[in-house]
Amino acid sequence: MPATDDEAGRSLEELIEIKRDGGAHTLADFQRLTSAFVSGEMPDYQMAAWLMAAFINGLDDDESVSLTDAMARSGRVIDLSSIPGVKVDKHSTGGVGDKTTLVLAPLVASCGVPIAKMSGRGLGHTGGTLDKLESIPGFRVEWDVDSFVRMVGTVGVAVIAQTPDIDPADKKMYALRDVTGTVPSVPLIVGSIISKKIAGGADAIVLDVKVGSGAFMKTEADARILARELARVGASLGRRIVCVMTDMDQPLGHAVGNALEVREAISTLRGDGPKDLTDLCVALGAKMLVLGGRSTEEDGARELLRESIRTGRALEKFKSWVASQGGDPRVADDPDVLPLSAVTRTIGAPAAGWVQSWNAEGIGRAAMVMGAGRARKEDAIDPAAGIVLHAKVGDRIESGTPLATLHAADADLLAAGEARLMRAVRVASAVVAPRPLFHDL
Ligand code: URA
Repeated sequence: MPATDDEAGRSLEELIEIKRDGGAHTLADFQRLTSAFVSGEMPDYQMAAWLMAAFINGLDDDESVSLTDAMARSGRVIDLSSIPGVKVDKHSTGGVGDKTTLVLAPLVASCGVPIAKMSGRGLGHTGGTLDKLESIPGFRVEWDVDSFVRMVGTVGVAVIAQTPDIDPADKKMYALRDVTGTVPSVPLIVGSIISKKIAGGADAIVLDVKVGSGAFMKTEADARILARELARVGASLGRRIVCVMTDMDQPLGHAVGNALEVREAISTLRGDGPKDLTDLCVALGAKMLVLGGRSTEEDGARELLRESIRTGRALEKFKSWVASQGGDPRVADDPDVLPLSAVTRTIGAPAAGWVQSWNAEGIGRAAMVMGAGRARKEDAIDPAAGIVLHAKVGDRIESGTPLATLHAADADLLAAGEARLMRAVRVASAVVAPRPLFHDL
């Protein structure tokens, strides 16, 4: 017997057939799909069929908005109105060595814009903010919504794991997309990202769309299509969205791996961080301060952010944030409080020349095999494992110049990481231009 819905009037089979034949859905259709899937009435095989039909035939402009709306309302929508000010969130479409949230959250909060952020864990070659934060001894990411709102109200910043009642449709759909070849679809990515941000209570969102070998979108043209759609759908649902497109053809900064990235984030908050990471945090932060009403233009906002780093205010905010979530705030002054790997190995350049490319995905996978990431959701990670790159694309190197240092729990893991890392680097004999960080601001 086909499942029918009295209100929407269409069975789940009909909805699949409509999408298979290139037809369009109404908002009621999407509400029906998401609620049936969340409740378990719609089994995985039916949703998998619908997802593939949507992947192949696409969604039109109105459908993308309706899907996002239905997903956002598939669970609880957090009300942050008790916290004064515009609540600005930031999202990156994912990358390798992307520790911007660790820097941006306290930096922007130190300039007076409250940061209430829900983040995810790493999967595959990309890292996750929650895993990085949990490498700080004592730091807790699992909080209920009341504690989350209280921490933002008192400290000005909190970053927690998404609670199970937020956007349950996305949680189930994303897991299914991951194993059915339906992740790289613009309307499905847009629905997934924007619905989570709306459910998390954001008024305005800065989206960092990554482009390159370590990103979902490998070309600038594809990233631009995604960025436009994210902005359009967000605006249609009443959220102010700003998108930037930045490079993920090589890792951001030098460190890849959880505790190593926290260490690099702390140096950045001290003003000693890598230039690309610092520039990106200041650029994204300036947009957040403008959206948050703290500044009327970006030049002034950038100055506020740089001043907060110079005066130590950003680092002080980092300390109070870490302490409020149960972490050891001494980490800000003594990063050796972080877990350290048992063994390290520094690899020299195979030849003199210029670094031509670092394949970001390859480096992410090298860190993953050494224990920094997980291949499956249930895998444990080693917070101390990872890689520190000593040269970026365009740098001149001599034969034997240190290229990277690997950190792992034992020599076998180091060897596995080294083999992958060496496949991820190319050295050219002629001058190579450094890669641009910003594709579009
Ligand atoms: N990030 C998300 O949150 N969802 C997607 O579908 C892709 C990237």
